[in-house]
Amino acid sequence: MDELLLDVARRAKRYVEGVGERRVSPSPEAVERLKLLDVPLQDEPMEPSTVLSELDEIGSPATVATTGGRYFGFVVGGCLPAAMAANMLAGVWDQNAAYEILSPVAASLEEVCARWLISLLGLPQHSGVGFVTGATMANFSGLAAARHALLAREGWDVEAKGLFGAPPITVIVGEEVHASVFKVLGLLGLGRDRVGRVPADDQGRMRADALPRITGPTIVCIQAGNVSTGAFDPADQICPLARGSGAWVHVDGAFGLWALASPKLAHLAEGFQDADSWAMDGHKWLNVPQDSGIAFVREPGHLRAAMATSAAYLIAGEGREPAHYVPESSRRARGMEIWAALRSLGRRGLADLVECTCRHASRFAEGLEAAGYQILNDVVLNQVLVSFGGADITRRVIQRVQQEGTCWCGGTEWQGHVAMRISVSSWATTEEDVQRSLDVILRIASDEAQA
Ligand SMILES: Cc1ncc(COP(=O)(O)O)c(C=O)c1O
Repeated sequence: MDELLLDVARRAKRYVEGVGERRVSPSPEAVERLKLLDVPLQDEPMEPSTVLSELDEIGSPATVATTGGRYFGFVVGGCLPAAMAANMLAGVWDQNAAYEILSPVAASLEEVCARWLISLLGLPQHSGVGFVTGATMANFSGLAAARHALLAREGWDVEAKGLFGAPPITVIVGEEVHASVFKVLGLLGLGRDRVGRVPADDQGRMRADALPRITGPTIVCIQAGNVSTGAFDPADQICPLARGSGAWVHVDGAFGLWALASPKLAHLAEGFQDADSWAMDGHKWLNVPQDSGIAFVREPGHLRAAMATSAAYLIAGEGREPAHYVPESSRRARGMEIWAALRSLGRRGLADLVECTCRHASRFAEGLEAAGYQILNDVVLNQVLVSFGGADITRRVIQRVQQEGTCWCGGTEWQGHVAMRISVSSWATTEEDVQRSLDVILRIASDEAQA
């Protein structure tokens, strides 16, 4: 075991040291070599050190370097050193975080994180908090609590009776709602296609003036941080209107809600604290390892009612039982990395992380605009959308940037325009990373314009 642990530490060190210099997307040869892992399963056991070496030598070169400083795809955070180290220790501890009696340390770290997060974000002090796999499951948890609360108010026990024969719930979303909300609505039996879609403005913000009149049990889903533009729905107008009519307001704040941790940017998320439930990611802007999301519900009883399990052998303690706030039972000790990230950053460090990545995004936008390319969004946060002319040339630039390997940016279609998306979400990104990436993007764009 000694040698194995030293070996994994050496290999981890080599990976971390190299990740900033290697190409960001794996080379086609490295991806091709993954076939070497696809062997017929042998009969006899194999030495763990050989297993590790196979994994590392074949697997590591085929990873996408998302923990380096030049990955700008989707919205993928890096991994803070303290969080990475905590994750390694978590692997060794192998705690089952379902119940306090299964892991007092996991349960207690979740409680501490819940308090820290509530205070950092200014959410209602007694909110229920669940530590889940990502924003999709955080949306699921928040909306499950909403479904419970609205139907309980109608005298219907949805957990016991299901939705057959239940009073209908109206669901309202903005035109630019994230796709994960539709997935969750399907999972919860609320339906993907029966939602009311409120028109959005040119930044993807739900238009408060277009909100329909609310009657009966209603959920209004608003968004803090559009996945393309970074824009925030006008929560300060929507929350009072919707909640005043008895609706439940759920916030998909996957990454954008972290703006609340920055005194300089918190104004963007004004009014979001007045909602009923909130979904966030840890693995995006907080830069903890995959997978990590957080669900908050103003009235913890609604979340517990939707999630709690009981069985004779499941002994609940006096305190907060982690499994009573999430869809899963057995699960890893996800609070560990959140605790480590927050402890290492402190309030100031978290604000710096958020602000610094936003500055890098602005620098990208300035450099691209100065070269004559069109920035399609107001760069208010860490997201940039750029067009290099028409759809074809923009697609070609994206493809060539991805192949070249210095950095990685994805593509999208934004309100009729094909665009390259640049999301700066990692603590590891430096000014030099931005400049290096910008140089490559501009060189490729100029080549393509002349081709
Ligand atoms: C606004 C928003 N909501 C939800 C999600 C889904 O997050 P996850 O992949 O962590 O489930 C994302 C992912 O980018 C997002 O940007």
